[in-house]
Amino acid sequence: MKDLTIDLISESRSSKVDFHNLPFGKIISDHMFEIDFDGKEWINPKIHPVQKMSIHPMNMALHYGQAIFEGMKASRTKDGIPLLFRPELHSQRLNDSAVRMCMPKLPENIFLEAIHTLVGIEQEWIPKIEGSALYIRPLMFATDEMIGVKASDTFKFLIICLPVGPYYPKPIKLLVENQFIRAAPGGVGEAKTAGNYAAAMYPSKLAREQGYDQVLWLDAIQQKYLQEVGTMNIFIVLKDEIVTPATTGTILKGITRESTLEILRSNGHKVTEREISIDELLNAHDKGDLIEVFGTGTAALIANVEEIRYNDKSYDLPHKWDLSTSIRDEFNGLRFGTIPDKRGWTVPVNETISIPA
Ligand SMILES: Cc1ncc(COP(=O)(O)O)c(C=O)c1O
Repeated sequence: MKDLTIDLISESRSSKVDFHNLPFGKIISDHMFEIDFDGKEWINPKIHPVQKMSIHPMNMALHYGQAIFEGMKASRTKDGIPLLFRPELHSQRLNDSAVRMCMPKLPENIFLEAIHTLVGIEQEWIPKIEGSALYIRPLMFATDEMIGVKASDTFKFLIICLPVGPYYPKPIKLLVENQFIRAAPGGVGEAKTAGNYAAAMYPSKLAREQGYDQVLWLDAIQQKYLQEVGTMNIFIVLKDEIVTPATTGTILKGITRESTLEILRSNGHKVTEREISIDELLNAHDKGDLIEVFGTGTAALIANVEEIRYNDKSYDLPHKWDLSTSIRDEFNGLRFGTIPDKRGWTVPVNETISIPA
């Protein structure tokens, strides 16, 4: 990348972190990447120690929500090599979100070089414990300072890194949401944009108050068809078919979902991307045709679902998660380099600058 400046701290904070006891999303690594869009081009790329930023009260992202992000992970093989997982798909999705939110695309070479360089510098922050990883959060937001609803001309793109432990250490309980909706056709459900998460917070809080880990969203029109779960896509394993809702614009095209589909299909399973109603799911459960339900996402990887509540009735789902366990094992094997990566999904980090711990 042209003109990248790197300002490193002299001593990493990583040696003071208890990597066996990592709360999700609270500990940030030493450095961050930053680049600005001046209305015409991306300028001033830099890596520097993590610092607070000052924000003008008229910053347009604060008022009108032009903000998008990504979530990806770096792991370390048993031989210590830092790996990224399908980073080019995250670059593509960031740019799909950017187009929908009227923001500039970030060229893939800048995205990839920034991640490789930053993660290379921060490699001591990649936990060595299975189930833990370095969570990488790229984000872009409007930086014009004015009041008035229009697209900003200027933007900032950042990458920060956080060492994280398992997101859901145990099976989860879902509350089917039939009052609020997450996304409607023609809306922004497919974009990884801040407002989608803000809109989900109130229903998620109500679900948590009732003892549920997450909301299972239904479609906005008929409130009948399954969409997705919190920050995960959903898979339903029936006796003779595995189903995941089709991505028709209202749900996020998960990279873990895409990878799970490829793994299942290459292992000879029949997987269908189609509409599946909550009634179909619960009828299959009542008839004994439901084998397992699981969620997929970068943060949680694979989350087993043990209970679903719909219309004041709770359904205790089968507790045998053979298929999801085998997929989780495959992902972990790839991330830790213990099984061969025949699809080329894992990418070794190619920068080896390191800071003394
Ligand atoms: C709303 C939503 N759905 C699904 C996912 C899963 O996507 P991925 O597998 O790319 O992490 C995420 C997480 O990014 C999400 O925020």
